[in-house]
Amino acid sequence: MTSNIKLACVMVGLPARGKTFISYKVSRYLQWLGIKTKVFDVDDYQRKLKNILYHQDHCELSETTAEKQVLDDMLDWFQLDDNKTKATMSGTVAIYDGTNITKAKRKWIHDTLNNKNVQVLFVESQCDDDNLIRENIRNVKLSPTIMQQEKAIDDYLAYVNKHKDTYETMTEPDYTYIKLINAGQQYVINLVRGYLESRIVYYLINLNIKKKRIWLSRHGESQFNVQDRIGGDADLSPRGEEYARKLPSLISKHIGDELPLTVWTSTMKRTNQTARYIKYPKKQWKALDELDTGVCDGMTYDEIAKKYPEDFIQRDQDKFNFRYSGGESYRDLVLRLEPVIMELEQHERILIIAHQATIRCLYAYFMNLDHEQLPYARVPLHTLIELTPTAYNCEEKLYKADIESVDTYRPKFAGVENAKKSSNKTSGVSGEIIDSSEPILPLSPHP
Ligand code: F6P
Repeated sequence: MTSNIKLACVMVGLPARGKTFISYKVSRYLQWLGIKTKVFDVDDYQRKLKNILYHQDHCELSETTAEKQVLDDMLDWFQLDDNKTKATMSGTVAIYDGTNITKAKRKWIHDTLNNKNVQVLFVESQCDDDNLIRENIRNVKLSPTIMQQEKAIDDYLAYVNKHKDTYETMTEPDYTYIKLINAGQQYVINLVRGYLESRIVYYLINLNIKKKRIWLSRHGESQFNVQDRIGGDADLSPRGEEYARKLPSLISKHIGDELPLTVWTSTMKRTNQTARYIKYPKKQWKALDELDTGVCDGMTYDEIAKKYPEDFIQRDQDKFNFRYSGGESYRDLVLRLEPVIMELEQHERILIIAHQATIRCLYAYFMNLDHEQLPYARVPLHTLIELTPTAYNCEEKLYKADIESVDTYRPKFAGVENAKKSSNKTSGVSGEIIDSSEPILPLSPHP
């Protein structure tokens, strides 16, 4: 299998066609899967080069300068990757976020990259739906105040329309490309080959570029949570049951009842019990089941630290990759959840009721957490999380049910301390005090 593929995804399309949104979504998805990816945004370069506001001056000279700079930096980045890190099995991906609406421009980019052994996948977003275009300008290009926005949208559309005459849609027979027409109404795919390109194309076909919200919640507190035991298939505790009863009103208050919702749960008792008072359609996913803890299933962390001290230390040292004997790692879980992400991207108004580890993986996908951060994301019990993906990142709101629960969060190295104490044969290897006031991991910085 090829191990050192360098792939550039080169965006194509008039301004306000969702190219930036697509670029960052693909980047987050690939990074979530463990593929090294970076977005190179021509607008950003242009802004920096001109040092003036985005929409004030679009002279061709600086655009070309910015584009050259982007290509140089991309090639340097690939080179850096070659020198610094061992190539991953799946390769490295740079995403070139620009308009590239002429054949001449695409030929220049294609030839420059190909000469340096970089494969090129063009991703064109073609859109003539006025509502979608206006919505996109609102979401990506502009800042607050509606009145000003409407005027600014008109100005921006006038600027975009000037480019329409030079726009040549992709028809180059020898190039690899996918054309997304009107946000998923139709696709044209040409010469796509290999794992990486197919993966990206498959993802793009599932991607819905309309703005939407997603809701996540852990099941209510379970009897195993109260006993500090992991895994198992326990029932809810009385406080967990209280959360289940309160959830419909929490949904009604924060999500609204105007439009129906679909609730996805795992196949485990605690998520189904949590969803049972919700009057919307439900679907069970095996893929949403909690991390399989193998031989440690049903044990407390203290018991694990005593019985498997080495494993306990190892887990804290590399929690993402640590696989429980006879069970799974977070890395395994991400792969198990990929179909859920694909399906989630296609739907609107989905509430997922799952578990600490599975919610962490889904949360990390939207919030762009890296593999170090992912297994330590705080996902408190009895809290509804609302995520609104935007072009550059994802907005987050937490709605607390105000029902007490245990805190199942274990900070990094708590296990090492416990295991050390355990192997030193000191007594009382008991639960460390966990600071429940620590916030959920913050939004990742603007990429
Ligand atoms: O403690 C509740 C739980 O859902 C366990 O079933 C699971 O093993 C654990 O959380 C995952 O959290 P961590 O990876 O931090 O141990």
